[in-house]
Amino acid sequence: MRSIDELIAEHKPGYSLDQRFYTDPGVYARELERIIYRNWIFAGHVSQFAEPGDFRVLNVAGESAIIVRNQDGELNGFANVCRHRGSLVCLEESGHTDKFACPYHGWMYDLDGGLIAARDMPEDFDKESRSLKRVSVEVIHGLVFVCFTDDPLSVEACRTELAEPMAMFGFENLKVAAQKTYDIPANWKLSIENYQECYHCATAHPEYARMHTLMLGDERRDRVQRHMEERMAACGVKDIYINRVDAAAPPGEMGFAYSRTALFEKYKTGSKDGSPVAPLLGEFTDYDRGASDFNFGPFSFMLAYSDHVVAYVFTPMDHNNSRCEIYWMVRGDAVEGKDYDVDELTWLWDITTISDKEIIVNNSKGVHSKYYEPGPFSAMEKEERSYIEWILRELKD
Ligand code: FES
Ligand SMILES: [Fe+2]
Repeated sequence: MRSIDELIAEHKPGYSLDQRFYTDPGVYARELERIIYRNWIFAGHVSQFAEPGDFRVLNVAGESAIIVRNQDGELNGFANVCRHRGSLVCLEESGHTDKFACPYHGWMYDLDGGLIAARDMPEDFDKESRSLKRVSVEVIHGLVFVCFTDDPLSVEACRTELAEPMAMFGFENLKVAAQKTYDIPANWKLSIENYQECYHCATAHPEYARMHTLMLGDERRDRVQRHMEERMAACGVKDIYINRVDAAAPPGEMGFAYSRTALFEKYKTGSKDGSPVAPLLGEFTDYDRGASDFNFGPFSFMLAYSDHVVAYVFTPMDHNNSRCEIYWMVRGDAVEGKDYDVDELTWLWDITTISDKEIIVNNSKGVHSKYYEPGPFSAMEKEERSYIEWILRELKD
């Protein structure tokens, strides 16, 4: 059998990946170390940690992190692994608490991870050396990210470069109006590759294709795009601002990207009939009929309309299973039932993600077949192509 390095060297540019990148546990083990545990993953919005004691648990590739606000108002991240004999400490997905009690033998930890109680241990037992281990946490303009290494990539360039477009949408002042989890029995790369390309949108997503212009040919797209830019200027929204360094991020830096695309004329936002679903965000004074794409590292993507933001987080679970977590965010002061309706808000990306899940699972079944061989990308799959090229670079020895 060929080695992983031989497989990487034999990859034909412009073609999909060899079967073993999706099926081989050896490849997955290398991905864990070089990609999955080294990169930042979105773990929620600061509004989900408003008070000391508010916590959430993030599960990624067999690891589990507790993120909690401490009494001093700081966000802490801990490995959800008891320092006694290793049980998971927190079994809830989110909540509010003043301490974490391990369900196995009852060791108790405070909001700074310190061990505060351990029954029937010897006199000289040193509690101080048994604090929960730390995972890395960063907040970027209201978005909380977690990384499962002590030596994470720097987020400074991302924080600085995206400050302006993120302020435009008032990211710091959002709140999570709805959240759904989609478990996808397929390798994580198939899930993200599907998100990266819109070659499938016209065939698979009639609802999305009605409003987004991504699948138009270059000339028609430019025309619609120019209209949006004029409307943006009329709404007082700043110029289109693009920074595309997701795949080619400088060494030691988290990759990020921002771009803005027009919606079709009749659509003000990503909703069933194109009409608004929530109050305008941030600096918007009107609908410019555009949608912005943000990338934060290789797993977290956000689509920002003038009145809401949809975050898509793809997490590898194991080499055959991934998860897509979607957060729908609206302005922090918006009131459910009055300013927005959850069903209207979530309609587009819920049906789109349900159909994506089916596509990805079918893709996975075919990729596992002995008849599968890598096939050529279309021009509309160029982002997917650059994504897999980035993966191969990271995996290379
Ligand atoms: S494993 Fe947590 S108290 Fe024993
Ligand atoms: Fe899709």
